[in-house]
Amino acid sequence: MFVTFEGIEGTGKTTQITKLKEYFESMGREVFLTLEPGGSRIGTELRKMLLHVDSKDITSITELFLYLADRAQHIAQVIKPELEAGKVVISDRFADSTVCYQGYGRGLDPKLLHQLNEVAVDGCWPDLTILLDIDVEVGLKRAMTRNMRDGKTQEEGRFEQEHLSFHSRVREGYLTWAALNRDRIKVADASGTPDEVFANIKRLVDTKLAG
Ligand code: TMP
Repeated sequence: MFVTFEGIEGTGKTTQITKLKEYFESMGREVFLTLEPGGSRIGTELRKMLLHVDSKDITSITELFLYLADRAQHIAQVIKPELEAGKVVISDRFADSTVCYQGYGRGLDPKLLHQLNEVAVDGCWPDLTILLDIDVEVGLKRAMTRNMRDGKTQEEGRFEQEHLSFHSRVREGYLTWAALNRDRIKVADASGTPDEVFANIKRLVDTKLAG
């Protein structure tokens, strides 16, 4: 099973991914956790380029192709082999991030981005995508607090420095995209306590496993 988590900054993806990993393990499944950008060796280099605040001069198209390159490498070298080895793969962000950040956020055509994603994912779409949804200001505040705590502001802060309007477009984009892909993308309210949020995610996963 291939599961991806999506959402704007500060939705608590990391916490929920850890909980889902423990849940699968309690069922005797082996779980492989990964992320985008940066899930492969080459991807680690791309992540630095993409997220560092010094990359402010990057063009939208360059940014797009670097995310797609990261994904193509991630799919071929990491995700497909781990799935073939029988593991549950959970990725912190995947193809929908490109549609929502570079598409709805930056203004590139979401349909074109979906086609480019088709090339990058090479037939390997997630079985289930959990979209964690939260108010933009609440999410950004959480992300800032986390970055200050982890000292990530310079190294990985480029997107957090975008205007509120950018993040609002991304959030609305995610909700629109989820409505267009109802079978795969399930929306989970991320405003509750970690346990409350996970109860909802567990229900979505159980439904998928039963189906
Ligand atoms: P994160 O790992 O802390 O979530 O940071 C990744 C950032 O990269 C986040 O701000 C969203 C952005 N992003 C895109 O703009 N497009 C993409 O395709 C992906 C995977 C991430």
